[in-house]
Amino acid sequence: MDMPNSTRITASLKASLAEDFFSLLTRAGEFCHKRGERLFVAGGIVRDLLIDIQSKDIDLVVEGDSHALADEIARLYNAKITLHQRFQTAKLSVNGFTVDIAIARKETYDHPGALPKITAGTMEDDLKRRDFSINAMAVSISGDTYGHLVDPLGGYADLKAGIIRILHPESFSDDPTRIFRAIRYEQRFGFEIEPETLTLLQEAKKHIPALSADRLRYEFECILDEQAPEKALCRASRLSVLKAVSEKLVFDMTSAGWFKSVRENNSLESPLPSLYLASWIGGMADSDAQRLAARLNLSADSRKTVGDISKLKKRLINLRLPGLLPADICRILDSITPVAIEAFTVISPDSMVKERLRMYLASLRHIRPILGGDELIELGYSPGPDIGKALQKIKNARLNGVVSTRKQEIEMAKNLLGRSSP
Ligand code: CTP
Repeated sequence: MDMPNSTRITASLKASLAEDFFSLLTRAGEFCHKRGERLFVAGGIVRDLLIDIQSKDIDLVVEGDSHALADEIARLYNAKITLHQRFQTAKLSVNGFTVDIAIARKETYDHPGALPKITAGTMEDDLKRRDFSINAMAVSISGDTYGHLVDPLGGYADLKAGIIRILHPESFSDDPTRIFRAIRYEQRFGFEIEPETLTLLQEAKKHIPALSADRLRYEFECILDEQAPEKALCRASRLSVLKAVSEKLVFDMTSAGWFKSVRENNSLESPLPSLYLASWIGGMADSDAQRLAARLNLSADSRKTVGDISKLKKRLINLRLPGLLPADICRILDSITPVAIEAFTVISPDSMVKERLRMYLASLRHIRPILGGDELIELGYSPGPDIGKALQKIKNARLNGVVSTRKQEIEMAKNLLGRSSP
């Protein structure tokens, strides 16, 4: 296997980064070299570089003082900096880019699912503690070795062969989130989880219950952020990984079809990950959805979506009634969050329901009376709940096409609130 040489790697690095950013890395490397420290880019960026994919994040690893390096970059580039003492990491925000800096480290785990204990080590130590061989490569960006690929664990060969391989048998039990990561990378790149890794993955499913809700939710967020999340979710379902997350949790071909429709439907406005989640939950029994929401400790917004989906399902029967007027549709849907309604425009099998949901999203939900409460008060009516009720009636009349002009609305307000006061 022809390993790319340092000239080729430097050229790829340069090509994949904005010019400013490439020079930032070079200056950071010079700073470390003067201090007698080695500096590397490591992990996902190296993997992506070697298969010509643009990487989202830059991870730097220094065999030395990460905070001194972060301070220097912050000084040179006027960057915003966040330091974490416990893990000796730093996060920099430079002209919209994020750079993470860590020290080269060794890790030990007290028990499965625990956060790691950290001690300083070399770049090679640091690569050994990583998840998969394809993520366990680094490129030197300091001193005479600038541009050298550090690949002690066969990452390049696995990347070229399309294999996801863990680095030691305890990898999944040390960190069960890697079960989700293995599936996510396998499906993102169209790779294959190597057979022994797959056997260990299956054995390690029993450790998933030990994962905290926050760590587990993060893994789902990462999956839902993928370009085609249905691939990873189908695979996780087939491997019974989802059942290890929450009893009865599955992801089938129907849900996969909904995910594709969600993605291809240009009229949907909510963020894709929320729409995916809403459509998946839309196909579950309420009790299963509640259990998943609790297990992942979903945000207040997502919990509202879960609750609204359940409400919406119960109200669908009303949305099928013949002869509904626009105001009736609004009465059914007004308290439901739009993401839940958008998801049902995709997953509902009923064309009449779909049409009504679409009409609500596209126009009905935006319709308001021309008159506002303030105007009615200016007309001489006293503030109070009657004004709110009248405005609701005027809105309904407007929705149903009974009134369309300001004059007609004023006339209706007078009829509703009495003609004597103004
Ligand atoms: N890593 C690990 N074990 C984990 C999480 C991360 O070993 N449970 C290591 C891997 O080497 C990974 C690096 O930390 O490459 C950075 O992690 P992350 O940012 O999550 O992944 P990326 O590789 O950058 O990949 P992605 O494209 O998914 O962001």
